[in-house]
Amino acid sequence: MIKTVATAPYQDQKPGTSGLRKKVPVFAQENYAENFIQSIFDSLEGFQGKTLVIGGDGRYYNREVIQKAVKMAAAAGFGKVMVGQGGILSTPAASNVIRKYGAFGGIVLSASHNPGGPTEDFGIKYNIGNGGPAPEKITDAIFARSKVIDEYKIADVADIDLDKIGSFDLAGMKVEVIDPVADYAELMEKLFDFSAIRALIAGGFRVAIDSMGAVTGPYANEIFEKRLGAPEGSVRNSTPLPDFGGHHPDPNLVHAKELYDDVMSPQGPDFGAASDGDGDRNMVVGKDMFVTPSDSLAIIAANATVAPGYAKGISGIARSMPTSAAADRVAEKLGLGMYETPTGWKFFGNLLDAGKVTVCGEESFGTGSDHVREKDGLWAVLFWLNIVAARKKSVAEIVTQHWAEYGRNYYSRHDYEEVDTDAANGLVTALREKLPSLPGQSFGSLKVTAADDFAYHDPVDGSVSKNQGIRVLFEGGSRVVFRLSGTGTSGATLRVYVERYEADPAKHGIDTQEALSDLITVADEIADIRKRTGRDKPSVIT
Ligand code: G1P
Ligand code: ZN
Repeated sequence: MIKTVATAPYQDQKPGTSGLRKKVPVFAQENYAENFIQSIFDSLEGFQGKTLVIGGDGRYYNREVIQKAVKMAAAAGFGKVMVGQGGILSTPAASNVIRKYGAFGGIVLSASHNPGGPTEDFGIKYNIGNGGPAPEKITDAIFARSKVIDEYKIADVADIDLDKIGSFDLAGMKVEVIDPVADYAELMEKLFDFSAIRALIAGGFRVAIDSMGAVTGPYANEIFEKRLGAPEGSVRNSTPLPDFGGHHPDPNLVHAKELYDDVMSPQGPDFGAASDGDGDRNMVVGKDMFVTPSDSLAIIAANATVAPGYAKGISGIARSMPTSAAADRVAEKLGLGMYETPTGWKFFGNLLDAGKVTVCGEESFGTGSDHVREKDGLWAVLFWLNIVAARKKSVAEIVTQHWAEYGRNYYSRHDYEEVDTDAANGLVTALREKLPSLPGQSFGSLKVTAADDFAYHDPVDGSVSKNQGIRVLFEGGSRVVFRLSGTGTSGATLRVYVERYEADPAKHGIDTQEALSDLITVADEIADIRKRTGRDKPSVIT
């Protein structure tokens, strides 16, 4: 019943910031997905008889790869596979299932916020037993294996029925098709004060949750409409579609603009939130107030004790390096440890496992805590509702009061997408060469105090990750960071992160791009962005 299939390796299966992401036609090449899945199994040890969790964000090609993964897990010797009904498991829900049932690991099929469809993106990611993305030493081993693999093993059986909850035997391995929502909803109910949020909503506070045609639809329906009593229709675009309805399932001011405009309109809801393709990102908007993800992390940390799951306080905060330093000010005031990691959730795993931090976040609309080992979109939304319910203040009041207390970190990210790869690499190389000469130089009124290529020394396992983004720091706490995306699937994406700290509350009402305009000009000057990319403006500003 177990078949061994000869295969030829592909040379391009290098996992990026978050797993292997490619266009569907690349994944659909002969044995492409099989090679990568077998390379994962070949890089692991000690899983015989243990449990593997499998699920995805429901995008195009999800079901096909799930069938392959289940049959290959049986052939590899796993004792059990737990798979979400319909092949669905949001990324945070998958992380929770791995942890809750003590699974050996999990395979998460997703390309996150990237579009889906026959010519769009697909992805495969391996998560370890703590529920988090595999660390670099495993992803490096998977890549090395993928370059030489010459066979894979698969159970030669008919496709399983993914739509019926229940368990059955498959070539000597147990398969359990599980409700993808139940465990997750139960966890959220433990962490947050659902009765306070229910009362807030019953009192007329109107929420709009946009699932963007992606995986969080069923989760949001269950949590917001069923358990928290939000009127039917409060959750929008709640049916997961293989192509996300043709949208880009990325919750930001560009792709979730309709929701944003709705909340900002006088008759619109009081609170809006959106999630991405696989449910780990979030965007939070209150009436007259968009909450930047960096501020969201800081404000959640500062108010954490209002939520029952965090009533005892938090142990520390971590943020990715390009994320603004707003959370650092909270950590300082509360006397908590603060950690600055490279971009990507995998770097938070060790800190969370070691109990050094409780909450973490990234500027890229990612926030989360030690309840799972992935960022968690709906968790952040519930945290905000819990804060609003407990403090009896609007989102705008909570944010402006936070700025008044801690100062405001004006922050924006400028993305130049699908830039010619050689041009992008050239820009970074030139910038690196310039680094030693920058400190001491002045650009208008901005004086450079330090410039480096960020390297992370993991305080838990001692590993070192180099070249994680170029930072140029200026007097007064302003800075510009440059890095190339590790999740794109065509050309290169240059990300430029711009930040300025303003302590004076009288100056907290300035438009963000205006407040950062001198830094934006200097960023172009230092990195020669226009000339090298041939672009006169970014493709996306968040
Ligand atoms: C992007 C974000 C990063 C996030 C990752 C996965 O990676 O910038 O913060 O962890 O997606 O959601 P990048 O494309 O910048 O490598
Ligand atoms: Zn995502």
